[in-house]
Amino acid sequence: MLSRRQFLWSAARAAAVTAVPVAFSACTKSHSETRPAGLSDPQGANLRDPVSFPKGFFWGASTAAYQIEGAWNEAGKGESIWDRFAHTPGKILNGDTGDVACDSYHRWKDDLSLLRAMNLNSYRFSIAWPRVQPAGAGAMNPSGVDFYSRVVDALLEARIRPLVTLYHWDLPQALDDHGGWLDRDTAQRFADYAGAMAKLLGDRVHDWVLINEPGAFTYRGYLDGTHAPGRASLVDFLKATHTVNLAQGAGFRALKTERPSARVGTAFNMSLCEPATDSPEDRAAAERAHAITNLWFLETALNGRYPEALVFLPERIMGIMSGDDEKMRAPLDFVGINLYYRTIVSAPAVSERLVHTQDWIFPANLQGGQQGPKTAFGWEVWPQALHDMVMRITRDYRRPVIEITESGCSYKDRSDANGVADDFRLNYHHDYLAALSRAMASGANVRGYHAWSLLDNFEWAAGYSQRFGLAYVDFQTQKRTLKKSGRWYAQVAESNRLSRQPISA
Ligand code: FCB
Repeated sequence: MLSRRQFLWSAARAAAVTAVPVAFSACTKSHSETRPAGLSDPQGANLRDPVSFPKGFFWGASTAAYQIEGAWNEAGKGESIWDRFAHTPGKILNGDTGDVACDSYHRWKDDLSLLRAMNLNSYRFSIAWPRVQPAGAGAMNPSGVDFYSRVVDALLEARIRPLVTLYHWDLPQALDDHGGWLDRDTAQRFADYAGAMAKLLGDRVHDWVLINEPGAFTYRGYLDGTHAPGRASLVDFLKATHTVNLAQGAGFRALKTERPSARVGTAFNMSLCEPATDSPEDRAAAERAHAITNLWFLETALNGRYPEALVFLPERIMGIMSGDDEKMRAPLDFVGINLYYRTIVSAPAVSERLVHTQDWIFPANLQGGQQGPKTAFGWEVWPQALHDMVMRITRDYRRPVIEITESGCSYKDRSDANGVADDFRLNYHHDYLAALSRAMASGANVRGYHAWSLLDNFEWAAGYSQRFGLAYVDFQTQKRTLKKSGRWYAQVAESNRLSRQPISA
């Protein structure tokens, strides 16, 4: 099974490109020129503490329905592709499922207490589409809608902004039975659902994320098959990406039709793509990797076309029809960035191309960086990547409003009588926030930061093996305990200033 990082490496292989002019960009600084960041880099970590953030900055945490809610078949909820996938033997590490997860469907008030204890003013959570519309079309499920309505009311009461994701990967199984994201019609189903939720909750919810990580779920769900619905075909992957681009445009319009003043974005999976060396070949490969990883769903939304570097895309195979440019267009009110690590890119050698036929079409080799410290998932900690990525988007897209919709790290946390001493996580968020604040000082228009995640949860194909939370969850008792990082984050949010205040475990 591919790790998340391997996914991104292979994602570059999965893109087909001809050589592109190398634009001046953060991506052109070569890997060999960069210094190790992580915890000891003066650039990344030891910025003059404390750093103030603008008034009204959103301090948040993120979750996703399937990863925390449980109650997979309660109160009229329909089956999702993740229910089906996790129930299929051999798909998830240790046979884990999201059937119970953090039981947040029943314990959401406990989750709310954690948000309050951390003084957060934003909570990014997702709506399970099959909970509110079991068949993915037609009738809504009143008790499902009521559940989210109560959560929203309680958040507002606690003066916490709801940032609601409409699609965090749990497609109604009934839609997948008809092709799911391979079927163009799913774009319209998504738009109907988005419009319905805007109607039902849009009097109180003003900030929406249409889709979480379109690049990640299409790749893993349709190309490498490690995520639901578990298909593994290049053609399927390409088709799915186009339907998702159409859904993004249609969903945006449906939401705005219902609620013109809503603020609507998408949470893009992004990774800074650095060339492995200064060679023109590696630099060009890094630009291709950037287009594949970061722009496949962003350029379509903001400029109504696939990125120039992806001109090779096989239109007929993808099902691109005339007029689709306008349909994909979605002038997002903000760009959500999920960023965890950077990617080092090299051009495949001619000999490699002979062996890997994909390299003829997709010439870029991607690897995770190796210089910084690693998380339990093996992801490199590299705060500078967040700074450079935010700056590149700022420069290339005319300084859009940006929200960091996810960033975080997994470690093998232990809970004992003294609590959970997760200094690594505290340092991670400190250093990424320090890097972010430098980008803001250089002109980036960043409105908020959401730590992934509020609490330890079901980490997709890795089951419960990866703990990302600011709060520890004992999955036997469902007891939640704020970790040291969570208590530190509470002080940052309360003071609106970033510093490494001393905190005991
Ligand atoms: C992101 C996903 C999120 C979680 C984190 C660790 O790619 O959006 O659901 O799995 O990774």
